[in-house]
Amino acid sequence: MKLVVRNDDRAVAAMTARLIADLVKARPDCVLGLATGRTMERVYGELVGISAAEGLDFSRCRTFNLDEYIGLPPGSVHSYRTYMNEHLFSRIDIPIGNTMLPDGSAADLVAEAARYEDAIRRAGGIDLQLVGIGETGHIGFNEPLSPFTSRTRDITLAPGTRRQNAALFDGDIDAVPQRALTMGVGTILEARRIVLVATGSAKASILAQAVEGPVTSMISATALHFHQDTLAIVDEDVARHLG
Ligand code: F6R
Repeated sequence: MKLVVRNDDRAVAAMTARLIADLVKARPDCVLGLATGRTMERVYGELVGISAAEGLDFSRCRTFNLDEYIGLPPGSVHSYRTYMNEHLFSRIDIPIGNTMLPDGSAADLVAEAARYEDAIRRAGGIDLQLVGIGETGHIGFNEPLSPFTSRTRDITLAPGTRRQNAALFDGDIDAVPQRALTMGVGTILEARRIVLVATGSAKASILAQAVEGPVTSMISATALHFHQDTLAIVDEDVARHLG
């Protein structure tokens, strides 16, 4: 794993967005793996800015998101589909049919997980996968004890994750779904390049554990040590806790 430190969350977002923009320019038919959450809001803000300024062409690009909540009503403002539409897809020129998220409202979640894996495979795999890190050490929603070989599946969210995400549900932890469909750790590790983004002091301790090890399925992000091309981009608030 390589690590770069930038001054603040804005600089982290700018560098991350630049990596994505450069890939889209070099390979207009690239396959992007995307994430949601507060960290990525700034990344997508920067990417939208670059796209407008430099006329990025996303028309042949395809995207696969890491995860989606299970059990939200269709069109919910809290769904990751809504998040992605608002923060990115409606603001760049990507055809909405090229944007994929697992369907958390599918009647048969096992079949939906298999369909999602198959869609990623048929797209030729993911060129660049963006990941954040949760306070439980998750990547995607791979909570502690997720096997490093795990594939897309239905998972029960850890209480710490539901607390972390309650802010996006007006602070109401009971409104945060109990389950999600998530790419597995094994799915994520198959991406050709992985970019891990972490900002803010709340992430400092878990990021230090992820980067400095030991490798353990109690912290899914430590699986990234098995990947050949992972870049972690962090701000000073996070880096202060590194050894
Ligand atoms: C979101 C996802 C999660 C988040 C992580 C950090 O699609 O898969 O792993 O990246 O929980 O979330 P924030 O950025 O809100 O702290």
